Amino acid sequence: MRELSDHIFLIGFMGTGKSTVAKRLAEFYQVPRRDVDEEIVRKSKMPIVDIFQTQGEAHFRMVEREVLKELSKDGMPYGIISCGGGLALDDRNQKWMKERGTVILLLASPSTIYRRLKDDKSRPLLKDHMDQNYIEQLMKEREGRYHQAADLIIHTDHKNVKDLIDEIQTAIKERQGEQNVKEVLP
Ligand code: S3P
Repeated sequence: MRELSDHIFLIGFMGTGKSTVAKRLAEFYQVPRRDVDEEIVRKSKMPIVDIFQTQGEAHFRMVEREVLKELSKDGMPYGIISCGGGLALDDRNQKWMKERGTVILLLASPSTIYRRLKDDKSRPLLKDHMDQNYIEQLMKEREGRYHQAADLIIHTDHKNVKDLIDEIQTAIKERQGEQNVKEVLP
């Protein structure tokens, strides 16, 4: 039986495939999919680039924190929550996610990310720096925080979505098994 015992939060750098993986995981577990960025856009009635430009990043981060909480508050059915690339950098968000679910970090190499995003204009942080060196530098700056936030780490380079879903669901099963053992033998 495909059962989820808590929420799954997908985190990681822009272009690591969080949205695609979230859709397929939600189908696999037959649970709702929630996307923090999509909800921010819906609430703000403007694209993320415009939010950054007119209200600034600090405002965006505040809305992002609120939306994360709304989408995974008590009583929400367990689901797959896809998070924007900067969300897991915040201690408060990390703590919130750890208390409510399993945090999965998706990784990809800077060259893969560059290839996937080079023609994309929707990421304000890469808008004026769309080059592989900059992506690598920003990734390095964030690496420690991402790892700190993660319960499971999945490498996505050279893997198709089906393989990723298999790998993730096996890792979740193993983790659930380990947690059950911990409960029986504290
Ligand atoms: C951001 C990533 C974006 C979006 C915003 C900021 C970041 O989401 O939340 O542009 O700080 O890395 P994706 O990771 O879905 O591109």
